[in-house]
Amino acid sequence: MNNFYANKIALAPMVKAGRTPLRCLSLDYGADLVYTEEIIDVKLLQSKRIVNDILNTVDYMYDEEIVLRVAKEEKSKLVLQIGTNNAENAVGVLKKLEHDIAAIDINMGCPKPFSISGGMGAFLLSKPDTVKEILTSLVAVAKIPVSCKIRVLDTTDQTREFVKMIESTGICAFGVHGRRREERPSHPNRIDEITEVVRQASIPVIANGHSSVIKEYSDIETFRQETNASSVMIGRRALSNPSVFRKEGILSMEEDIHNFLDKACIYDESYTQTKYVVQRILGSQQEFDPRGRDTVSAANVQEICKAWNKEDKFNECRDYRRRHSLKRRNSIEE
Ligand code: FNR
Repeated sequence: MNNFYANKIALAPMVKAGRTPLRCLSLDYGADLVYTEEIIDVKLLQSKRIVNDILNTVDYMYDEEIVLRVAKEEKSKLVLQIGTNNAENAVGVLKKLEHDIAAIDINMGCPKPFSISGGMGAFLLSKPDTVKEILTSLVAVAKIPVSCKIRVLDTTDQTREFVKMIESTGICAFGVHGRRREERPSHPNRIDEITEVVRQASIPVIANGHSSVIKEYSDIETFRQETNASSVMIGRRALSNPSVFRKEGILSMEEDIHNFLDKACIYDESYTQTKYVVQRILGSQQEFDPRGRDTVSAANVQEICKAWNKEDKFNECRDYRRRHSLKRRNSIEE
């Protein structure tokens, strides 16, 4: 199972962005693994599993909300990242979703107040006993690879101790973001500290935190070489330029948006999430490009597609869903 995370380039977990369309697009472009956005354990435990044979997906629904939509095309490369503060819930999520995902990862890096106050994310970096219990319990029952994603701690000694502890639980790999808990993206990524973690580790390390420097695929390889890490995980750059995963080179903003909208239409992504990713790809062009301004003022996915001349794709996917749900209703009634 250790090979799963070895020698890979991955889409990093990103709330609001790391959903079916961006994940599938990243895989099409060349990413080897894709992480889901962090999903809180309780939400998954309370969700209902639905096989969606119209979209060829498995959906985990919480009321009307799609908590997780797993497409057939991504299943074997999909890492579910959860936010948790206890072993019982983490194991519950694993057992419930194990057959729909390729691996499970515990978030130990998120510094947001929501995570910290819930005893999750980066809070866990100060709770080694809890971490040990969560990871050991998962490893004991998991039939799929288990990993976690951490940040570097306040001193190299503390990081070393923490890494030794997580490795002792039997996990397959871990991601490390080279910023401390209180550091923001504007702080430099601590490459030397990641390199030291890699030197010490006996399992694959997935280096992270270098999006400000990474512009295209070759820079991903440079980051890998600089840190000596087995694998690399890309967040912000993959959000502003998903085609960063293309060995052949990045595409234009317009092409990235077109390709993303195709996936958003195919997987019937919600308005909020679709708009968020398109706006992140647009960046400052939201104000200067007329299609950017139309995206900002769009009130639904159809209007976003219209702004980018993708209405045909939107209509095609919508009509396909309608036809098939009608057919299914008729066959149930017969
Ligand atoms: C993140 N990050 C993050 N990390 C995580 O473990 N779980 C998550 O759900 C999220 N969500 C998230 C959302 C957004 C919009 C951003 C920009 C970031 C952190 C992310 O995975 C990564 O660690 C950092 O962005 C640093 O890597 P890059 O961006 O320099 O490649």
